[in-house]
Amino acid sequence: MGNGVMISPSILASDFGELRSTIKRLNAWKVDRIHIDVMDGNFVPNITIGPQAIAAIRDATKIQFETHLMIEKPHRYIKEFVDSGSDIIIVHCEAEGNSTRSINLIKRYGAKAGIAISPQTNFEVARSYLSRVDTFLVMGVHPGFGGQRFMQKSLSKIAQARARANDLGCDTHIAVDGGINQDNAKAVVLAGADELVVGTALFGSKNPIALIKKLRN
Ligand code: DX5
Ligand code: ZN
Repeated sequence: MGNGVMISPSILASDFGELRSTIKRLNAWKVDRIHIDVMDGNFVPNITIGPQAIAAIRDATKIQFETHLMIEKPHRYIKEFVDSGSDIIIVHCEAEGNSTRSINLIKRYGAKAGIAISPQTNFEVARSYLSRVDTFLVMGVHPGFGGQRFMQKSLSKIAQARARANDLGCDTHIAVDGGINQDNAKAVVLAGADELVVGTALFGSKNPIALIKKLRN
């Protein structure tokens, strides 16, 4: 939508007691994807939701579900997350098991694949996956919690990913997740991001629709 910057609200920052009505509300926000954080208490020190909860909200919108797996053994659960209605499934390059295997499984089950990279991980570790995925997700914070402060050092990794995608001529989305708000969105987009995942800044806003317009422009 608009000038090519995709906006994906992260529902981790929303009221989990109102998940279904929140999803319905997002239909009016005119966003590109809905970002769903799945945490297993092992890969990250927090536990959120699984395939059952995602399936329970699937019919509340036609907006694509972008499911961000922060779990240890993602390859074990790919089918469940595809069956739950996830359109894009993102696995971490630091997770146990073979990321290529997870990416192939996601595609085999008919969803789009993504790879995520945490702040402590060098771009080189995930570089070879970039052309094989729909979404390359650069974490702006250590995964596990919303409401954290964006790490400026992530800008160089965004730029590396963008340069690589341009060199390869591939249309992989360069997404950024964690600590995004209206003060840092411009620098993140100028570094090369074309998707912004936004949690606290959007769900904490008095006028999220106006904020989305600002983030896009
Ligand atoms: C953190 C999650 C993010 C987070 C973003 O581990 O992957 O998606 O919910 O929320 P904010 O924008 O509040 O950092
Ligand atoms: Zn996320």
